[in-house]
Amino acid sequence: MKKALITGVTGQDGSYLAELLLEKEYEVHGVMRRASTFNTARIEHLYQDPHVEGVRFFLHYGDLADANTIRKLIYNIRPDEIYNLGAQSHVRVSFDIPEYTANITGLGTLRILEAMKDYEHETGAKVKLYQASSSELFGDAPPPQNESTPFSPRSPYGIAKLFSYHTAKNYREAYGIFAVNGILFNHESPRRGETFVTRKITRGIADIVAGKADKIYLGNLDAKRDWGYAPEYVEAMWRMLQQSEPEDFVIGTGEAHTVREFCEAGFRHAGLGDWQTYVGIDHRYFRPTEVDFLLADPRKAKEKLGWEAKIKFEDLAKIMVDADLKK
Ligand code: NAP
Ligand code: GDD
Repeated sequence: MKKALITGVTGQDGSYLAELLLEKEYEVHGVMRRASTFNTARIEHLYQDPHVEGVRFFLHYGDLADANTIRKLIYNIRPDEIYNLGAQSHVRVSFDIPEYTANITGLGTLRILEAMKDYEHETGAKVKLYQASSSELFGDAPPPQNESTPFSPRSPYGIAKLFSYHTAKNYREAYGIFAVNGILFNHESPRRGETFVTRKITRGIADIVAGKADKIYLGNLDAKRDWGYAPEYVEAMWRMLQQSEPEDFVIGTGEAHTVREFCEAGFRHAGLGDWQTYVGIDHRYFRPTEVDFLLADPRKAKEKLGWEAKIKFEDLAKIMVDADLKK
């Protein structure tokens, strides 16, 4: 039975990945932060009583700031695959807490790789690492972006992810560690955090329909993103680690739309009429430096991983609006 260790298991992607790996008969170990309130809503349905025989899903306290615990987890669990999904993942917030973002989203990856290096050296075991890289690396590089596009990040988050990207590549080249960067474009779902723009819109729509709110306030409506469906993206992560050689891949749909178009699609699907009646602009949601246009060229993933996005923009908006209306 293969063993996987997932950082960020309580997040959107971590929860879908844990589901996928359990379906594939893995033993799955997730790292979660201690919080004073429950932060396990996305994985509650996966929880198994550790006293029951045959349990394959385990949770461990840990933090990407804490090298000692990361090291202990790797040595004790002896995973075949590590998925580093943990991060301070909000771009706008990274301007407010840049040092923390660099520590977790950047140095966290180094802490894992250092522990892996020693573990492989001391035990002779081999471990594969998936590093959650991001299309934010491209910043203001002209679209479409692929694996050869030069990086030009525009936020403390993007810069921290760039550090992680290069650290993974360097440990691969210097020490022969199987480390891959999945350069994923935006991917969303009903489990998306409520402060990312798609979910903010679909939750706002549901609140308006329920009579709990009159309006939602957004920032830059002109930004273009390549939005895909998160459950499909975790399959791509897994496929990257099943390759015989470690390589980096861009993952996206190959279609870009504006935030304005997402508003139009969402409000239309909910039958609310003209979206502009319900959307106000608040400058606090603008970023000091914006990434204007992200559009994936995912041809390498199709050719080498046999992966292609199936759920596109309109269907994604419908899935998210329907889920929030139901909730
Ligand atoms: P998310 O929902 O924000 O989840 C982030 C996870 O990281 C959560 O489990 C969070 O724990 C955990 N975390 C935060 N700080 C941590 C710390 N100090 N130590 C350990 N864990 C910590 O993000 P996501 O959308 O699932 O994305 C997964 C990864 O892919 C992230 O690295 C993100 O930057 C990257 N990425 C995402 C996208 C996208 O469009 N979703 C695209 C490209 C790359 P709590 O639940 O306790 O907060
Ligand atoms: N969050 C948010 N809130 N974004 C807004 C708003 C708002 O009220 N109004 C407009 N936007 C615009 C942002 O300025 C940005 O251009 C776009 O909507 C998308 O913002 P987010 O949904 O916050 O996502 P992101 O693109 O900044 O970052 C996400 O995708 C990255 C991959 O490209 C995150 O998941 C990152 O972790 C991920 O790496």
